[in-house]
Amino acid sequence: MLGGIFLASILVIYGLSYFYFQDCHKLITRTEDAFDVVHEQIQDTLSNLLSIYTCQKTPAEKKRVEEFNKETSDSQIESGNCNNKYRIIFSILYIIVFLALNYGAYHLYQQKKIDLKAVVSIFIINFAIFGHLSDFYYDAHGFMNVYTKVNHITSFMESLPIKPKHSGKTIPNPARITINFKDVGFKHPATSKAIYEDLNLVIPPGQSLAIMGSIGSGKSTAAKLLVRLQKHDVGQILLNGVDVADLDIDDLRKHVIYVPQHPILFNRTLWENINYGLEGVTREDVFKLLRETGLNDLEEVYREKMDKSVGKLGTNLSGGQRQVVWLIRCMLRPSSVIVLDEPTSALDEKSRRNIENIIKAMSKKRTLIVITHDKELLQHMDRMVYFDKGKIIQDTMLKKESAEQQPQSNRRANTPIASY
Ligand SMILES: Nc1ncnc2c1ncn2[C@@H]1O[C@H](COP(=O)(O)OP(=O)(O)OP(=O)(O)O)[C@@H](O)[C@H]1O
Ligand SMILES: [Mg+2]
Repeated sequence: MLGGIFLASILVIYGLSYFYFQDCHKLITRTEDAFDVVHEQIQDTLSNLLSIYTCQKTPAEKKRVEEFNKETSDSQIESGNCNNKYRIIFSILYIIVFLALNYGAYHLYQQKKIDLKAVVSIFIINFAIFGHLSDFYYDAHGFMNVYTKVNHITSFMESLPIKPKHSGKTIPNPARITINFKDVGFKHPATSKAIYEDLNLVIPPGQSLAIMGSIGSGKSTAAKLLVRLQKHDVGQILLNGVDVADLDIDDLRKHVIYVPQHPILFNRTLWENINYGLEGVTREDVFKLLRETGLNDLEEVYREKMDKSVGKLGTNLSGGQRQVVWLIRCMLRPSSVIVLDEPTSALDEKSRRNIENIIKAMSKKRTLIVITHDKELLQHMDRMVYFDKGKIIQDTMLKKESAEQQPQSNRRANTPIASY
């Protein structure tokens, strides 16, 4: 009979843990989600501190974060309550079964079915077993927390658009890439108006091309379509005859590199940021490159900061120093096409000159596409195209020798640059 009570109690405890898991697991997941939202909000707030201070919105932002934080505290309290509820149920159950078993043993003793030694032994065994059983609750609790966190991270990873490895063609002869935008049309899913309807542009290998144009005319979008950060709807973007849509994404990003308008850095050391994605590059290679490009002043700064953290988003570095990290990475990679989106915007004169030096060096060796409003950069470029409302309204050769490289289709639009 005692064995029966004992087995039944174990079954009940295991059954109960199933309900415990079902009930509390959902609440812990909700707490984790709420934490994610709060982290996102805090990060967003910190990234926009300047706007917040300038617009004197500190109290409003504080309130906003507090509201998000409240959801986290509420769900934390609920999941805490859930845990407590089951802990009490488990404890009551343990006590009932413990008492029932010992009472059963005592009853058998009174009926002289067992002797005193057996009663004491049963008590000791009960005590030991139930000690272990109460640990079971804490183990279940720990397991559930870990399970929920792992599950949470796994679902986040699954939500990322990860493509199968080597799922496309490779660029033929990647050292010399001809880029051909052929009747390209594109519209953002959220908008009704197309940015381009029939964009045509051929960029021969080794050319340095400046893309200029009015605000919102589609310059950055063209660069993003080229590296498939966005996907064109109609027409083709051919790299040596292969559409970017059919290319293996790793192969595309290896040979065509895009530096965004506001490059941000990892909150790691300067060296980890510079060395990110590079192989076999030493610090001395970096310093040598800085000297060769005439950035001797930066060499000194970088030497000093190399093992220090650059701070969140790289904010311990100036805008120009951040840009240079990305540009050095580009120069030390084997990519044959480099696309820079407004590399000199919002920089002081000294940083601007540093970036200009790098652009000059880059333009000699590879295909360089620079989206810019900065006319000073044009002296290092072979060609300039001007965008307006998704169309190229001007296509100008800037250097005599590269006029010969220019494909027939682009020669028609040549007009003097002086007007810009
Ligand atoms: N994610 C988006 N959703 C909807 N429309 C967008 C999105 N990103 C850009 N656009 C719109 O697409 C058009 C082209 O934007 P794009 O960033 O290519 O312009 P741009 O020429 O680079 O401008 P700027 O000189 O200001 O950098 C703009 O009208 C812009 O408002
Ligand atoms: Mg832009």
